Amino acid sequence: MEKQTNKMPDFQVKLNQESSIKHVIGIVSGKGGVGKSFVTASLANQMKKMGYRVGILDADITGPSIPKMYGLHGNIKGNDSGMFPAESENGVKIMSVNLLLKNEEEPVIWRGPVLVNVVKQFWSEVVWGDLDYLFIDMPPGTGDVPLTVFQSLPVDGVIIVSSPQELVRMIVTKAYKMAHMMSVPVVGVVENYSYVECPDCGKKIEVFGKSDIDEIASDLGTKVLGKMPIRTDYAKSADEGAFSNVLNEYIDDALTALVQLS
Ligand SMILES: Nc1ncnc2c1ncn2[C@@H]1O[C@H](COP(=O)(O)OP(=O)(O)OP(=O)(O)O)[C@@H](O)[C@H]1O
Ligand SMILES: [Mg+2]
Ligand SMILES: [Zn+2]
Repeated sequence: MEKQTNKMPDFQVKLNQESSIKHVIGIVSGKGGVGKSFVTASLANQMKKMGYRVGILDADITGPSIPKMYGLHGNIKGNDSGMFPAESENGVKIMSVNLLLKNEEEPVIWRGPVLVNVVKQFWSEVVWGDLDYLFIDMPPGTGDVPLTVFQSLPVDGVIIVSSPQELVRMIVTKAYKMAHMMSVPVVGVVENYSYVECPDCGKKIEVFGKSDIDEIASDLGTKVLGKMPIRTDYAKSADEGAFSNVLNEYIDDALTALVQLS
């Protein structure tokens, strides 16, 4: 995928010298709670299973959820080269502020400039090693942290996560436009909470009504890369810290798009 030419001024932070990362993918949304972390971890698991070397940079500094999903707790080690990421049971490398805090329940109440520096350090001071894909789990919205990620890290593309709801057109368009303004290509949109499957007959029940996501994506000139139902078994794995076992079967088109980014 070609990056646009109207590049922003170069604020790029240098990657840790013992690391090399082929593709950096941001998972974004205009709104909280739509399933960004869920999609990030789902993509990571599937790409890992396909044999790629995969990491997750948890850029949601004030609301980190990735370590908990994988049952990881703080025990980050470092040396002169930097900090070593944790590794999930299925071999995904993970760095999150939650792994660095003494008490995971303590709220992170840092100001913007501090948050921004943490994200930069996760790029420059983490010994990621050689990765094929680094997924960045973003905080919701268009604040300091997403802005920093787009300006300071070489993001190849973003995947927008949305859910069927009122104002979805506005919310998705906003996320799309932010990426566009930062000259980062949009890989596509994953819709979450699209339906529930009846356990008896398999009928798809669209709990939030009919979704307009196909039309919205087409109007924006992008693709829908998956529609995920509400799956209580996946949610249970996330709650129990067993997300390593989840192989999300609804994101195949997203995986294909990622493989094609060469
Ligand atoms: N398809 C799904 N089926 C069942 N549960 C889901 C699904 N998607 C997400 N969840 C659950 O919903 C909750 C919110 O999802 P998640 O944390 O991924 O959202 P988020 O967009 O990252 O939120 P935030 O904006 O707070 O970072 C989590 O508990 C997650 O396990
Ligand atoms: Mg999240
Ligand atoms: Zn039924």
